[in-house]
Amino acid sequence: MENFIAYNPTAIHFGKDVINEISKIIKLYGNKVFLIYGKGSVVKHGYYNLIVEKLIKAGIEITEYSGIKPNPVETDVREAVEVGINNNVEIVLALGGGSVIDSAKAIAVCIPENLDVWDVVKSKVVPQKALPIFTILTLAATGTEMNPYAVIQNHKTNEKIGFGYDLMYPKHSFLDPKFTYTVPENYTAFGIVDIIAHAFENYFGYGESPLAERFVASIVKESIHYAPLVLKEPDNYDYRANIMLQSTYALNGTTVIGKAGGDWGVHNIGHILSLLYDTPHGASLSVAYPAWLKLMSNKIPEKIKKLSELIFNTDDIDTFINNLEFFFRSINAPINLIEAGIGYDKKNEIINLMKKNKVSGYNYSFDDYEKLVGLMYGS
Ligand code: NZQ
Ligand code: ZN
Repeated sequence: MENFIAYNPTAIHFGKDVINEISKIIKLYGNKVFLIYGKGSVVKHGYYNLIVEKLIKAGIEITEYSGIKPNPVETDVREAVEVGINNNVEIVLALGGGSVIDSAKAIAVCIPENLDVWDVVKSKVVPQKALPIFTILTLAATGTEMNPYAVIQNHKTNEKIGFGYDLMYPKHSFLDPKFTYTVPENYTAFGIVDIIAHAFENYFGYGESPLAERFVASIVKESIHYAPLVLKEPDNYDYRANIMLQSTYALNGTTVIGKAGGDWGVHNIGHILSLLYDTPHGASLSVAYPAWLKLMSNKIPEKIKKLSELIFNTDDIDTFINNLEFFFRSINAPINLIEAGIGYDKKNEIINLMKKNKVSGYNYSFDDYEKLVGLMYGS
């Protein structure tokens, strides 16, 4: 067991109509809200009107920044910071999924000292202040609603980087499972892959913590259980509520308690696909995980066997990987680059960017990109 600090200041308001409380709580922090959202799903499905009506009724002033794209980019964050400063906003409210919430976190730490987002992402500048962050989650996947991390892309430097500061913990996050009823089938599935991947990344982190490993196994088994159910009945409250809970607890510190952090090697592989081809985050991981497990199977066999036993009651690594691939395929998540729409002609481009960005894991290093990408093509 490694030394650790258990700290998570985010208040999670979970359940039906929890957003009814939002105006009262926001007013404890200020009266000028900076509402951040994506390309329009929240407007199309009525969440935007629901929220804006409540804020206006409570006399809260709203400045908006919309158009955050999936796999969010630093240029949007920079532009939003300028809008926020010019309008003297006091609170940042994210309405959306991980891309919107991550952008909102970056915006909240850049506004007070007018910092440049990429200096913050690269830790060239450490933010000393942040505006209070509120989130209303509309997609269960990343766990960003209850953690201090964000992931931002830069197409000029060709990097997609995860970073984190305690200042980026949301003060309050509102999780109403009904807000995820409208998530399309593909992103529901990709979100479930992301949940499983977060649990795995923390399992493969440094240190031994039997309790954390059982949290990992429970979250993975629950996700595998609820996946076919929620895909069949997307507006089933209990199914959506359980998936939402799993997504939050896969990356809010629970699955890494007693360890020295996660490995994150597979996420670093997935980020290359999102950078180059805008591959949805979860889809990049359902391609990367089977390949990474095959690459690592003779380096860390005991570690993989133990996970296999925890999840599928077998210590046979091939069975473990086949079961995983079978599950990913059953929810229409791609298990190789071809299924992700990335042709063989892209092989060298992927290898070269992995080399440039020194893709590896924090706990288990690798650099045989030729072999890894070959496995990602399913060879
Ligand atoms: O663009 P909008 O209109 O918002 O539509 C989104 C987007 O097209 C749509 N959507 C979201 N909620 C919906 C909905 N459509 C209908 N009904 C709803 N209720 O879904 C699409 C995907 O949204 P996005 O926010 O991109 O998905 P997700 O939540 O999976 O976030 C992915 C991003 O999170 C980062 C990833 O790298 C990626 O950039 N991650 C953040 C982490 C963190 N901060 O801890 C950890 C993760 O590992 C991950 O890296
Ligand atoms: Zn992820």
